[in-house]
Amino acid sequence: MKPFTFRNPTKLIFGKGQIEQLRQEVTRYGKKVLLVYGGGSIKRNGLYDEVMAILAGIGADVVELPGVEPNPRVSTVRKGVDLCRKEGVEFLLAVGGGSVIDCTKAIAAGVKFDGDPWEFITKKAVVTDALPFGVILTLAATGSEMNAGSVITNWETKEKYGWGSPVTFPQFSILDPTYTITVPKEHTVYGIVDMMSHVFEQYFHHTLNTPLQDRMCEAVLNTVIEAAPKLVNDLENYELRETIMYSGTIALKGFLQMGVRGDWATHNIEHAVSAVYDIPHGGGLAILFPNWMKHVLDENVSRFAQLAVRVFGVDPAGKAERDVALEGIERLRAFWSSLGAPSRLMDYGIGDEQLELMADKAMAFGEFGHFKKLNRDDVLAILRASL
Ligand code: NZQ
Ligand code: ZN
Repeated sequence: MKPFTFRNPTKLIFGKGQIEQLRQEVTRYGKKVLLVYGGGSIKRNGLYDEVMAILAGIGADVVELPGVEPNPRVSTVRKGVDLCRKEGVEFLLAVGGGSVIDCTKAIAAGVKFDGDPWEFITKKAVVTDALPFGVILTLAATGSEMNAGSVITNWETKEKYGWGSPVTFPQFSILDPTYTITVPKEHTVYGIVDMMSHVFEQYFHHTLNTPLQDRMCEAVLNTVIEAAPKLVNDLENYELRETIMYSGTIALKGFLQMGVRGDWATHNIEHAVSAVYDIPHGGGLAILFPNWMKHVLDENVSRFAQLAVRVFGVDPAGKAERDVALEGIERLRAFWSSLGAPSRLMDYGIGDEQLELMADKAMAFGEFGHFKKLNRDDVLAILRASL
């Protein structure tokens, strides 16, 4: 293992009816609240009314920022920062999926930052303070509810980058699986692909002696693989929603990465693809991940074979280790396809016209990936295999 320090200050409030705790949580931080949400799903499923009633009950003065886009844009972050300053906002409440949460994180930091938010998103500056914010999660996917990361897109320059800071952990996150029941099948599947991909990003490393880390990753994957096919055929099943929601948080709260260094190259390539084409993050990952795996397989064949046997049920008897590993990758592709996830860029109508541009975007900060460092040729090879 590598030496590590672990800190995650977010208070996780999980379970049916736990929205009741919003009352006492918000009261700690102030009366002037910015409510941040997306394109209207929370109005259609009644959550907006519930939240507003609780906030009214504690005498909160609520300002609203609706319309946060999937793949949230820096233009919306700027709008939120202006609103907070103009209205004297003391606390932000994100009600939505990863996009709403990520946008809220950038606004919370942006209010305390003397400059344009794009500077810290592109890591030209470092934030040292942020307004406090809380989360009510409505989509199981990113883990943003219990980590400090945020991913923001600049649509004008076609760039999408992740950033984060110790000051951008949510103060609390309320996770009631009930609120994820209205997530349509398509986004349920994207969320499942995303949380599995987060585990893969942390599973592929070269650190030795990580038996518990390996098995924790495998436990999350096995749990998701067991629940996901049932859930896509039974979207209103509370227990399955509960299992998937908890899995998504565990996958990216920093827990699986203790003592190891994750790879994160596939996420970097996906962010470049969705910066140019604005496709859903989970859809992009479903296309790219198996191709990244094949591209880097020979860095550590045993690790891929271990995954194939322990997670994808491949029988290794009489087979070469490399064939076992490849069979595991094929089973992953087949599993995601069986859920209805895309497998080729063509599924989004993406051809080879912008491959070079996507590669340039992925290379913005130079070579990347810790399991295998990827250069521009590697990125192009993975993108070509994904067409
Ligand atoms: O906008 P609304 O109307 O709310 O609709 C959303 C949106 O269209 C809908 N939705 C959310 N909850 C719903 C619902 N529809 C019905 N019922 C509900 N309960 O789902 C659509 C997608 O929402 P979005 O928030 O975009 O999805 P997700 O949670 O997958 O977030 C994706 C963003 O997070 C970033 C991605 O790159 C992308 O920008 N990521 C953030 C990470 C982090 N902060 O740690 C890590 C990830 O790897 C990822 O990169
Ligand atoms: Zn992701």
